[in-house]
Amino acid sequence: MSAFIKYVLILLLFDIVKSVLSFRCDRRPYGSTTTSSPADGRFKLQIVGGYDSYMPEQLYSVQITETDGQSRFTGFMVSAEGDLKQDPRNPRRMIQQYPGEIRPQNPSTAKFSDRCLYSVEQAVNSFKSTVEVYWQAPSSGNGCVTLRAMVAENENMWFEDGGPLTLKVCEDMRQPDDVTPQLNYECQICDEAKYEISFTGIWSRNTHPRYFPENDWVPRYSDLVGASHTGDLIIWAPGTEATEGLQQLAEHANSSKLETEILEKVGDGIRTLIKGKGHGNLKMNIPTYAFFRANKDHHLVSVAIGFSPSPDWFLGVARFELCQQDNTWLQERELNLFPWDAGTDSGVTYESPNIQTFPKDAVTRVQTSSYDKNSPFFEMDMKDLHPFGRLGLKLIRTYHRECEETTESEEGETTEKAEKEEVPDESGEPEEPSRYQYPELASSDNGGSLGPDPESSDDCPMTPWQDWSNCEGICEDGKIVGIKWRERYHLVDGIPVGKYDPNAKHLPKKEVSKYCEETFEHFEELPCKEDCSETKEENDEITAEQRFMAPVIPGHTWSKKRALIKTVNKN
Ligand SMILES: *[C@@H]1O[C@H](CO)[C@@H](O)[C@H](O)[C@H]1NC(C)=O
Repeated sequence: MSAFIKYVLILLLFDIVKSVLSFRCDRRPYGSTTTSSPADGRFKLQIVGGYDSYMPEQLYSVQITETDGQSRFTGFMVSAEGDLKQDPRNPRRMIQQYPGEIRPQNPSTAKFSDRCLYSVEQAVNSFKSTVEVYWQAPSSGNGCVTLRAMVAENENMWFEDGGPLTLKVCEDMRQPDDVTPQLNYECQICDEAKYEISFTGIWSRNTHPRYFPENDWVPRYSDLVGASHTGDLIIWAPGTEATEGLQQLAEHANSSKLETEILEKVGDGIRTLIKGKGHGNLKMNIPTYAFFRANKDHHLVSVAIGFSPSPDWFLGVARFELCQQDNTWLQERELNLFPWDAGTDSGVTYESPNIQTFPKDAVTRVQTSSYDKNSPFFEMDMKDLHPFGRLGLKLIRTYHRECEETTESEEGETTEKAEKEEVPDESGEPEEPSRYQYPELASSDNGGSLGPDPESSDDCPMTPWQDWSNCEGICEDGKIVGIKWRERYHLVDGIPVGKYDPNAKHLPKKEVSKYCEETFEHFEELPCKEDCSETKEENDEITAEQRFMAPVIPGHTWSKKRALIKTVNKN
């Protein structure tokens, strides 16, 4: 085909597409003879999750719902319309950009429209209070998309367009690494995972000059607080109302209430409370670290970090999926954090006086292209906005776990094995912040699951072995050749002797009998080999934090043990 004919064909195609698109399709309910009535606010169109911008190619649920608790509709249509732009081949002509795809969510309630492009309509005329359809956003560079709804109470009473039935959403210009993966409701990974989470502050006078607080000693971050949790649990989420804990964190950078709310659900939807130290006073760019565990049931992570001064703004991720679609644990991810608005204070700038929002609004993004001159984000384009912090997630290791389903012949054996592995796991793992931060939890553990290992002798009761440490050593050529170690403790009168407790002021003096001491090891080490990365500047920072958490070999100080390990490696 000659280039000329191709060109003509393309032009023709554009003409056809254009004529189809510019035809404003008739969305009148079937059989209706009336024109539409002005929207009266009883029905509204929204994107589930409260998004007001879209991530390219992301799947969204779009919902028509009544707003007064009683109105019902029979017919509907949801359409997507792209922005017009100049045809690059013919500047005198406007063409419509691709608006993405609207699809039925449930074929028994919705179907593709025969009349209109990029539209879905009712499959049956039953009365409904709400309906949801999918919208797959277009790829990057397609500008803004207008979502429109037609809602019919009956064939003669119907509404289209207007405020509550039209939504214009533009591409969210944040980097794709800020997009959180889709939820994997059927996580099938049996092995448990241990993650490191890090938060690095970026908010400063250099990155965010407009209205940055005058006094450099004032700005600070709250502690980082969050949890690994199940799919049905919400610690915070866009589009939902902030809990009192989130409100305190967002308004006053005080995390204690949110921690309490999370602690109340440990064991009931929550696997690990995550807590990392918040920095202020000119140290806001120093990273903070914490560790947490995730498993088949608790495969989401949510965290929040308040920053002060601010009306009710905070940073964080909500319901971030760690269990990937191919049923492997996410290895590593960096996320840029942009401020969220908790919906509880109507101030517009960092140092606004408190203006309580009543009733509370839902959690949404802080409006970045604000037209309010007092806003730090006055007329700012999202793509020019620096993140306020960066969150890192890194898989540290996994723990082998048997899946619950077992064949009958193996059942006895597998259950027993699973139990044995569970015991050390629950035995107050020292590096988990929940136990480190909460001595009361740790001590109840000592009385409970840190009881004697049923396998240890009655004469010399001991706790179960704790988990193996990471492979420790010097990283060379991407490999650590070092040692890993684990410990257990002699129990005297039910007290684990020599167990390091950073909160205990007076360690109870308990003597282990010579016989027990000599007969039963409390410390084991093994050579190990592991991949590692050498470019880990933050290494010192992590170990500094772990110093408090790592158990100390009785009779050694922590630093001695460290030195010992290094010497071993050099030989
Ligand atoms: C944080 O809030 C709690 C009440 O939720 C209060 O007891 C505590 O004093 C507050 N901490 C600070 C530093 O203001």
